[in-house]
Amino acid sequence: MAGHSNYVPQSAAAKWLESRLPVISLVRGSFVDFPTPKNLNYWWTFGGILFFMLIAQIITGVVLVMHYTPSTGAAFNSVEHIMRDVNFGWMLRYLHANGASMFFIAVYIHIFRGLYYGSYKAPREISWILGVIIFLIMMGTAFMGYVLPWGQMSFWGATVITNLFSAIPLVGEEIRTWLWGGFAVDNPTLNRFFSLHYLLPFMIFGVVILHVWAFHTTGNNNPTGVQPKTKQDTVPFHPYYTIKDLFAIVVFMILFAWFAFYVPNYMGHPDNYIEANPLVTPSHIVPEWYFLPFYAILRAVPDKLGGVAAMFGAIAVLFVLPWLDTSKVRSGTYRPLFKQFFWIFAANAVALGYLGAMPAEGTYVLLARVCTVYYFAHFLIILPMLGFLEKPRPLPASISEAVLKGGAGKPAGATAAPDTK
Ligand code: HEM
Repeated sequence: MAGHSNYVPQSAAAKWLESRLPVISLVRGSFVDFPTPKNLNYWWTFGGILFFMLIAQIITGVVLVMHYTPSTGAAFNSVEHIMRDVNFGWMLRYLHANGASMFFIAVYIHIFRGLYYGSYKAPREISWILGVIIFLIMMGTAFMGYVLPWGQMSFWGATVITNLFSAIPLVGEEIRTWLWGGFAVDNPTLNRFFSLHYLLPFMIFGVVILHVWAFHTTGNNNPTGVQPKTKQDTVPFHPYYTIKDLFAIVVFMILFAWFAFYVPNYMGHPDNYIEANPLVTPSHIVPEWYFLPFYAILRAVPDKLGGVAAMFGAIAVLFVLPWLDTSKVRSGTYRPLFKQFFWIFAANAVALGYLGAMPAEGTYVLLARVCTVYYFAHFLIILPMLGFLEKPRPLPASISEAVLKGGAGKPAGATAAPDTK
């Protein structure tokens, strides 16, 4: 990463530091002088937005913990204490709870950006795989965080999800007991979830460093999917993308603030304002919105173990995606058929989200089955076949050509050979 730095230490102190710990040239090489494709659009600002949200979640979380009590007898009331008595406690909590949702909105946009522009393809497979690992840890973190206020949905959501593990043959029951730390979701469960909910964001931070390192080694992808060839294809990260990312973060914060200050409970469930009660089961147990597509897949399969396998399979398939897509062309911009299937896939994912929120009965179950089959067919049948069946549009010879002759979408009749390097 430091390899891109033009930094030459001037003062004696800077020279002294550079020869011992070249941290200034590392930061400059990665975030100041780093050559970045000059045609990145606003979909490329979501990586920066995600980084901002991760830091915001860690800061609000660390302060919330100063007033929260992780025990079944006191957790619910300690959250009410934060809301009513702690100075700006209501704001901290609403920022943290809505921040989790905003984090997922950003990560879904970031993932779909990657799917459209083929950012998962060689040579960026490792950036993609590290991204899927981040996504998994994010889901674990959010799930355990939702248990902490110890409301009805906390308790019953935790019960439903931990019970899934009992479907694993032979060792399932043992795993469930081990997760619970006892024979039901109870105080030991709350304690371990609290401990892990605090730990995992720092693990995400560590994986993010690897994620950034990986795509700084290969260079960023861009809307054309064509590798930068000359110096004219790139600009230094600072000031061009620092200011663009900052602007996008501010716009995103306006949306975030609107949720946190005007409709702070819109994305939550009212039952979580009732203290957990193991003797009263809510009529509908629904997870947070960002889990709904996976919840729909889980319930679409009539067999419990099959449902669990399908749900984990829906994420596992992302790990092998770089090898399932057989097309030589990277960006969806130049793939007329892929583009249409991409939008069908996106609509299918939204439909799964809707179905996950509906009761698991009648037509809803039937539709969830169709959408689940389509989800897997997209990755396992459509993408591998498209590479052979599709005739891609001509690619621009370089990023500069695409930019100067009408943008990524209009390569103005250029007919260079497909570039996948
Ligand atoms: C905390 C979560 C994450 C953070 C902070 C993060 C950060 C970033 C940043 C700063 C970039 C460069 C700018 C951009 O392309 O937007 C990036 C690129 C990338 N991210 Fe992430 N990311 C996260 C999660 C993910 C996930 C969940 C995936 C996929 C499952 C993913 C896949 C990628 C890929 C493939 C690239 C390289 C793409 C390119 O240059 O076009 N990331 N990420």
